[in-house]
Amino acid sequence: MGIVIDLSRAESYLGEDELREARGRAAAICRALYEKEDKDRVLGWRTEETSVLQLKQIKEKAAEIRREADVFVIVGVGGSNQAARGVIEALPRPKGPKIVYLGNTLSPYTIRRTLEGMEGKSVYINVIAKNFETLEPGSHFRILRQWMGSRYSKEEMARRIVVTGTRGSRLEEIAEKEGYLFLEFPLSVGGRYSAFTPVGLFPIAAAGLDVDEYLAGMAAALKDCREHGEDNPAVRYALVRQLLYGRGYDIEMMVSFEPRYGFFTKWWVQLFGESEGKDKKGIFPAASVYSEDLHSIGQYMQEGRRNLTETFVSVKEPGASVTVESCPEYGDGFDYLDGMDFGDINRAAEKATLEAHARGGVPCIRFEADRVSERSFGELYYYFMVACAVSGELMGVNPFDQEGVEEYKRSMFAALGK
Ligand code: PA5
Repeated sequence: MGIVIDLSRAESYLGEDELREARGRAAAICRALYEKEDKDRVLGWRTEETSVLQLKQIKEKAAEIRREADVFVIVGVGGSNQAARGVIEALPRPKGPKIVYLGNTLSPYTIRRTLEGMEGKSVYINVIAKNFETLEPGSHFRILRQWMGSRYSKEEMARRIVVTGTRGSRLEEIAEKEGYLFLEFPLSVGGRYSAFTPVGLFPIAAAGLDVDEYLAGMAAALKDCREHGEDNPAVRYALVRQLLYGRGYDIEMMVSFEPRYGFFTKWWVQLFGESEGKDKKGIFPAASVYSEDLHSIGQYMQEGRRNLTETFVSVKEPGASVTVESCPEYGDGFDYLDGMDFGDINRAAEKATLEAHARGGVPCIRFEADRVSERSFGELYYYFMVACAVSGELMGVNPFDQEGVEEYKRSMFAALGK
């Protein structure tokens, strides 16, 4: 069935004429994106050349890791690890190595605890770094190489280290010199658009998840975006959030009643925050997990300043069933739930919340996937990446650069004496 979008509770804030005009503009931006892609291959994010050709290599190494590792360390930050983490942390995984993350913090406590957790275990690592200058992944790679160097022979280390970097980078030089498997991070792709390159594919495969299904989801969304320029979830979402932004709705909260989407929403925050927050413009992206956060941020959503849009990410099939059995002798006051399944309770709570917030003056958007699966992740990631590119262009910013991040990196390097 694919991803379904419901914009009715957001479009009601907008006029028919402005919607029609914006639809035309957004569809033209989407079309131009694909024309540029066909001519200059600017959207490296769908590359058959780099990712699919490497798929065989990716699957073979992933199978070895699944056979031989107790711990698989994914080293990367920002766009270099968020997409894979979003999928890996949401889906049930077949038996295999424990997956841990490094290269995404400067906390000595976290680094030490992670290293301690690796002691006595068979460890494989994947270092993902586009230009290999970023402090966190670069410094952690040093620490991990030292850690491995005192436990494995040079040959053994070479088998256990996979690096994902750009051609011509220092990381590639190191890989060549030391004999590490090198996977290509396409030069034309920014980290946050790298979900379908080896950056996302390799860790997802090593986690034992189905990359073919994931790519099939991407292909379906890609076809939809190419063929239905004006009427696909990406373009429709992008133009509505931009029209709302023009009316002062400059915060967007992505929420889900499914905690499994926690890292997916973090990915979304990164994608939109880094792509749109520039030139003193931008919709501030935030994320919350309901129902827990209804007991904190829910108050603000209902009655706070009316400058917020709320985007729900929902799933039809909850993936498990837990029924509330009748126990009248307990006298706990919850008999009204007797016989109900938590799938229904969660769905009812989501519907009620959405309606309450909409009544409270929050434009609400809702995406729904049929299941939390590799396929639906492929679709969601692709739609949101296109949406982000279109939305940034509508706003008049370049959604593909991140000068602000480079600026703080320079400042941090100066502080550390680089
Ligand atoms: O989207 C981006 O470009 C950034 O979030 C990068 O992914 C992040 O800064 C990490 O960069 P690198 O892979 O070069 O270490």
